[in-house]
Amino acid sequence: MATDSVARAPARVEDLTPSSARELVIRARDLRKVYRLGGDVAVHALRGLDLDVVTGEYAAIMGPSGSGKSTLLQILGCLDVPSDGSYLLSGDEVATLDEEGLSTIRNRRIGFVFQAYNLLPRANALDNVALPLLYRGMGLRARRERAREALERVGLADRMDHRPNELSGGQKQRVAIARALAADPDILLADEPTGNLDSQTGQEILTLFDALHGEGRTILIVTHEAEVAEHCERIIRIRDGVVESSEQVTIRRRPLVSGIAET
Ligand SMILES: Nc1ncnc2c1ncn2[C@@H]1O[C@H](COP(=O)(O)OP(=O)(O)O)[C@@H](O)[C@H]1O
Ligand SMILES: [Mg+2]
Repeated sequence: MATDSVARAPARVEDLTPSSARELVIRARDLRKVYRLGGDVAVHALRGLDLDVVTGEYAAIMGPSGSGKSTLLQILGCLDVPSDGSYLLSGDEVATLDEEGLSTIRNRRIGFVFQAYNLLPRANALDNVALPLLYRGMGLRARRERAREALERVGLADRMDHRPNELSGGQKQRVAIARALAADPDILLADEPTGNLDSQTGQEILTLFDALHGEGRTILIVTHEAEVAEHCERIIRIRDGVVESSEQVTIRRRPLVSGIAET
């Protein structure tokens, strides 16, 4: 932990206008991540990154390939740990949490969506969504019930018994979103969720994120596409492992259709 970054942290809160009235859910200071590749080779993926996200915010993270976007998202999602720096999640320093504290965050507070869906190929949609709930100690019946609700929520009521290879790309991503939603997380992190989809299907996925944001969830989406970023309230640009700029989106792109379209 870099003590200097912790020591200077309190002064930064005042910089947070105009949303200072809302509670900070993510507060990262001087985050660093070094990947050691053996020998003397080291990749500095994050180089002292500061980021504040308020509760209910809908933000896009953009930046060139290799700038550290995925590394940042994995650290924010507690899927990886920083080499140095401070990450406060709702005021708790994540580095001080034990494995149980971390798994509670991963299983309840934060939902993660990946570009490549990361579904289990042999399991049908229902089981893909229900399985992670096992780690919350839910019984089979409760898990299936919760999974069914989540799949209905993303418009896949009629695809529950389909395996991933029997689903379109957009449907697979909706299963992945249902899996993230089933735990009812207050934060959703998505790493290029529309990167493998055609633009029409990508729009449908975004409509879903728009609706989830409308319910008050905090959403961060890594994307290369301006059309995706313009759905969000804020665009955070990352370059060389630091935040290069952060701007509010003045004219947001609205959902093309209301509700969730079926593909
Ligand atoms: N597991 C890893 N081991 C070594 N280097 C990595 C690893 N993950 C990412 N990197 C490197 O860290 C840098 C940032 O990667 P990443 O966070 O994936 O960037 P982005 O998502 O913006 O493309 C890149 O130089 C990448 O090659
Ligand atoms: Mg990436």
